[in-house]
Amino acid sequence: MDISKILTDLTLAEKAALLSGSRAWDTAPVERLGIPSVMLTDGPHGLRKQDPAAERFSLHASVPATCFPTAAALGSSWDPDLLLRVGQALGDESLAEGVAVLLGPGVNIKRSPLCGRNFEYLSEDPVVSGHLGAALVRGVQSRGVGASVKHFAANNQETDRMRVSAQVDERTLREIYLAAFEHIVTVAQPWTVMAAYNKVNGVHAAQHPWLLTEVLREEWGFDGLVVSDWGAVSDPVAAVAAGLDLEMPTTNGTSAARLVEAVETGRLDEAVLDRAVRRVLELVDRAARARTGAVVDFERHHALARRAAAESAVLLKNERGILPLDPGADMTVAVIGEFARTPRFQGAGSSLVTPTRVDNALDALIEAAGPHLKVTYSPGFALSGAEDGALRAEAVAAATAADVVVVFLGLPEGEETEGTDREHLGLPGTQLRLLEAVARANRSVVVVLANGGVVETASWDHRARAVLEAWLGGQAGGGAVADLLFGRVNPSGRLAETIPVRLQDNPSYLDFPGSEGIVSYGERLYVGYRYYDAKGLEVAYPFGHGLSYTTFAYSDLDTAVEGQGDDVVVRVRLTLTNTGPVRGREVVQVYVGDPVCSVDRPVRELRAFAKVGLVPGESAPVEFELRARDLSFFHPARGRWTLESGDFEIAVGASSRDLRLTASVAVEAPAYAAPLTLEDPVGQWLGHPEGGPLLREAVQTMEGSGIAHDPDILRMVEALPLSRLVAMGGGRLDTTRIDSFLTGQSA
Ligand code: BGC
Repeated sequence: MDISKILTDLTLAEKAALLSGSRAWDTAPVERLGIPSVMLTDGPHGLRKQDPAAERFSLHASVPATCFPTAAALGSSWDPDLLLRVGQALGDESLAEGVAVLLGPGVNIKRSPLCGRNFEYLSEDPVVSGHLGAALVRGVQSRGVGASVKHFAANNQETDRMRVSAQVDERTLREIYLAAFEHIVTVAQPWTVMAAYNKVNGVHAAQHPWLLTEVLREEWGFDGLVVSDWGAVSDPVAAVAAGLDLEMPTTNGTSAARLVEAVETGRLDEAVLDRAVRRVLELVDRAARARTGAVVDFERHHALARRAAAESAVLLKNERGILPLDPGADMTVAVIGEFARTPRFQGAGSSLVTPTRVDNALDALIEAAGPHLKVTYSPGFALSGAEDGALRAEAVAAATAADVVVVFLGLPEGEETEGTDREHLGLPGTQLRLLEAVARANRSVVVVLANGGVVETASWDHRARAVLEAWLGGQAGGGAVADLLFGRVNPSGRLAETIPVRLQDNPSYLDFPGSEGIVSYGERLYVGYRYYDAKGLEVAYPFGHGLSYTTFAYSDLDTAVEGQGDDVVVRVRLTLTNTGPVRGREVVQVYVGDPVCSVDRPVRELRAFAKVGLVPGESAPVEFELRARDLSFFHPARGRWTLESGDFEIAVGASSRDLRLTASVAVEAPAYAAPLTLEDPVGQWLGHPEGGPLLREAVQTMEGSGIAHDPDILRMVEALPLSRLVAMGGGRLDTTRIDSFLTGQSA
């Protein structure tokens, strides 16, 4: 495509028409010039392409596709290679269906466990979200299909999502809510970024010049297309001016008409419109170059979905090694719970996939059981949530007769859907009463959980000897659960989100979901473990936690600092050994803390991780490289990432609360002193390398003043703006040198 030529051939009306969809999922074609339309469709964990044969739009009327584990699950795999492979498979399925852009991954931070869409997001931590999101993007795009990183930005709740303004200070935005997007944009070059529904600090994300142009393009170098979330644009002219390129879905020409009028009346520069048109044409061109005729091996994708689900499940507890169960044993396993037979494997809303097939755990367990292992089944509860005494009694009888009980619990479908948030973290009362009754009948209880957002566990997990968090594991999740329970796969998932003891402990509790169109991110950067650690709060299961059927030893931590300032590299090396009986994979996590800093910082923050597989007795070196950015904070006044000299604490471990090795490293960086003004407090002046001596000298000359000599007086005036000290001195404070310092500073 000769895009520059096409741009000159297009009429203004044609150009404006290219900036919104022609239908629900397609860009506008320009037949006169041979410009085809391309299709963008959901995403993120499977293809949801509207079935062309369906009579009307329905979330359920999509062509069959592999339903991979949801992001809540994949995020818990901590395995970029896995996300790469899932991305490749998603890319192949998109290609085979002629889809140009798959709308995912979703990398919004899990600010509150109540967010109804947390099942579509990866983590409460931007490093996990960024690394895994980038891998998925790379996988999809390796097939010549574009990804769409969404929802940019601060779309962390469903309540009032089209209007609510997330009030977030810049440092928090940069360090928490934008960081995953930044990582993905800079390392994986996504074809598109999707602008969110909500406002950020009062401005619609899809019409936000600072977000869409200054940060995304000018700072991060994004060269792809910005597409609106479906229906996110309220003012198409403001959107294009801000840096949005494509409004979706169609507006039947109304947005185009407004754009034409804005150009004709001089409200919108045609060059700005052309810039967006160019990006749409570039997308169409990229898509046209994709190979066609891809043939999908759905069996292989189903097997990948099963492996992915198994890699993502988190073994929360496993008392006295009740798991794995031996499939060859002579015993009876009572499987209880409707979810064993009717799995919950994905969430509701735009990400709903029509699976090619669905495995259930019950069948998979029966299939994998040896000749002497008897599996019995009782549903235990009805999906409707209605109390059913007969079902419970039957389950209790089965539990009484069994050696081991595996109870499948989870959230009802209606509690996890796009468009609404959850109201509490509890499992349904009927399920908890069932668990209680079953646990009274048999002490050997294993609970398997199906949920996307985390559920409260502290009030009931003492009733189970093992708890396996299997998430919404996709269409092959049932098979994966059987693989894990029978030890064919060793659990290696880790929590990408803290499970709090109570909802009220969550840092966003008082500010979620806000009211009257405003939600204040009052907890600032203290999201998830950053908050629980700062407060020293007990949690049910910490961020990064997950057990294995083997054990790992960490040893020989060695750190080395090379260079300084922006070029600093901290090398972290250690040895990991599989000290247990079986092959397994450990997630080695590296946290960094900066205990002395001019701004408040979380106690420690995840900066790197690696998933390492070892056979029993095997040791392997594990190495990480931390860069200046990993040690820096976003300086609010300076408006840039800032590294301060000092000692940093490097902690390596198996979770945010299971740190096995620590070291302190000294890092050098140029000092930064904020420019001073007369309105800055005396204390700040005194602490300044140049301003301090000048002020000290000036107060010496202040006749009759005790300030220079009396520490008590000095402490009292520390908070006083210097201008006021000058005024109170009534001309006795000689500010000649201070004035010339201020003049020199602003020059
Ligand atoms: C969702 C997006 C989705 C889009 C298209 C919106 O409601 O927020 O995540 O990609 O619809 O279905």
